[in-house]
Parts: sequence; structure tokens; C-alpha cells
Amino acid sequence: MAVEILPTHTSELFQKAVRRAAELLRAGEVVALPTETVYGLAANALDKNAVAKIFQIKGRPAHNPIIVHVASNEMARDCVKDFPNLAERFSKAFWPGPLTLVLPRAETIPNLVTAGGETVGVRWPSHPFMQAVIRECGFPLAAPSANLSNQVSPTSAAHVRAQLGEKISLIVDGGQSQVGIESTVLDLTVSPPRVLRPGMIHEESLAAVCGEIQSLNSKVQSRDSALRSPGLLEKHYSPKAKLVVMDWTDEADLGAKISSFKFQRSVIHLIVHTKIPAGFAAENVCVIPHDAEAFARALYGELHRCDAAGAKLIVVEALPSASEWSGIADRLRRASA
Ligand code: TXA
Ligand code: MG
Repeated sequence: MAVEILPTHTSELFQKAVRRAAELLRAGEVVALPTETVYGLAANALDKNAVAKIFQIKGRPAHNPIIVHVASNEMARDCVKDFPNLAERFSKAFWPGPLTLVLPRAETIPNLVTAGGETVGVRWPSHPFMQAVIRECGFPLAAPSANLSNQVSPTSAAHVRAQLGEKISLIVDGGQSQVGIESTVLDLTVSPPRVLRPGMIHEESLAAVCGEIQSLNSKVQSRDSALRSPGLLEKHYSPKAKLVVMDWTDEADLGAKISSFKFQRSVIHLIVHTKIPAGFAAENVCVIPHDAEAFARALYGELHRCDAAGAKLIVVEALPSASEWSGIADRLRRASA
């Protein structure tokens, strides 16, 4: 099966792609669509047979629930049993955008979507194409990231094609994902609300809405959260190469630290933001600006590029500890687990 890749860069192409994607989704098919965080592998969230195909294509374990994407507060309300005032406040502050709210599920949401649980994760994405398709369909879309299970999420149509091109019939190219890492997942069924997956909407921003937030900081907390949100299982978001996050004082220090890994320099790739080393081939050094948003946007693309280039070791320069970087630090920690 040759995968169809539809561009969206003119309004005619955009509309044509919306109609084609909606047609397939109505027929119970699975399609890859752009969102502002990462590309999603979407199906009609109300159709369990369609959702089952997502699990099959990704090789996703059945115990991992899938986020449901909506294009209005009304649609979000239809997916949940109760949309409390707190949810209203978070939606007002951050939707459409990279925040998933975990709430008690509505009866209409199939068990497969919630992995048999009593809650559902709901998100109103800001990407105009995703919004247009959801509106055209009139039903919510279940969509995990459009990668094989446990691999790095795609932030471009090309990344999706490389992993899933043989398994799906349509990829819509909506350009590079502008956020670049997956949404923040916030559990509103506990008090105070708890971050199950950090993201670019960080704890300080969330706390500004509701005062107090439970974080992922303590060990006990993370083990408990992992059970609540299987996507938090340690091994996740990984490139094929070994990935390490490290700090170094000067080139000699970097050289010494790297040599302990026993790889030839030609298969070592570096991703840096501040300290630019000279003793490596230029094509093995990627410099991303020292800015959390820019770093998040570029990171997965660089990990995909390193894998494609046959990297054996990816060295990422240690990140600042400020909260803007916490979502990125979380993904790097998992990628290096
Ligand atoms: O940005 C995103 O969230 C992207 C785009 C496509 O929207 N989607 C995404 O989906 O990252 P996925 O399936 O790759 O990750 C969803 C995460 C998983 O860690 C899953 O365990 C968690 O959200 N999750 C989903 N529903 C949940 C629920 N009801 N309770 C707890 N965790 C849930
Ligand atoms: Mg994923």
C-alpha cells in the first residue's frame, strides 16, 4: 500500500486534505494528522473498531489509554461525565493548546480508549488542520503520537512516513510541529490536580490557575503516577542510539567523559545549546538555541536525524533547571533510561 501524503500549504490544498481525512475517518480508517505538539495517529474516538486499528498499527500495549481530541468545550463535555469548574478554568487558560485534562469518562467513550479505566484524557489542539478535521467529522478523534510504540514521536510528515508509511493510507503534511514535545497531561480527578506527564505548559503556569499542583518530583510519586498513566513507564520516547545527558567544563573534560563510552567519534552525535565543542565533525554537532521553546521544537527532529545517520551515542548538553525546561528534561530522562 503506497501511502498518500497530502500537503496543506494553500487554502485549496488544505480544504481538499480536510475532506479526504474526514472521509477516511468516517469510514473507520486511521490517518496521521499534524498537531502543534507532535503528529497524531487519529481515528474516530467513538468507534472501537477504528480505535483498535491504532493499537495494532503502533504495536501499543492495551493498558495504555489514548487521548481524545476535540475542537470545542461542548465536544469536551460530551466526552466526560462531569466538566467541573476547574476544568473550565484550565480550558479557558490553555485551550486550544498543549494541555490534556484527565476527567471521569462519559459512557460513550469506548473502553479501548480509556484502557478500561474510568477516566479519559481530553485535549483541544491548536493546530488549524486538526481543528478543521475534527469539525468536519463532528466526532472527537482518539490520537496517540504517530510513531511505533516506545519510539521518538514524529514532528514532521517525513518522520511519520519513515515509521508508519507502510501501515497507513494517509499522512497529512501540516508542517513542522511548533511545540515539538507531547502535551502536558494533568489529572483533575485528584485534589490538588496532578501532573502525570510534564510538557511545555509547566507547573508554575498550571499553579497560576488553581493555586496548587502535585508534581512528579518524588520517587514514590512517580511510581504511583506511572500506574495512573502508563505512558509514564520509564522506557519511552527513545531513539535507537544510546542517549546521555551530561555537563562538561571544557573540551578535555568532554573528551574524557565521552571516551568512557568506548565509541568511535564518528558515531557520537552531540546536541548542545551553550557549549559548542570544536573537536567533532560539524555534521555530528547540532546547536539548538538556548531557549526552551526552540529546544523543544527542534529536539525530536534531531533525535530522528541522529538515528537516521547511524549514531551510536547521542550526548545532550545538560539543561537549565528552570521550570520552562522541565518537560524537555522529562523526555530526555526517559530517552536515556
Ligand atoms: O501532545 C500529545 O498529547 C500527542 C498529540 C498527538 O496530541 N498525543 C500523545 O499521545 O502524546 P500518546 O498516546 O503518545 O501519549 C498519551 C499519554 C500517555 O502517557 C497515556 O498513558 C496518557 O497520555 N493518558 C491518556 N489517557 C489517560 C488517562 N485517562 N489517564 C491517565 N493517563 C492518560
Ligand atoms: Mg506517544
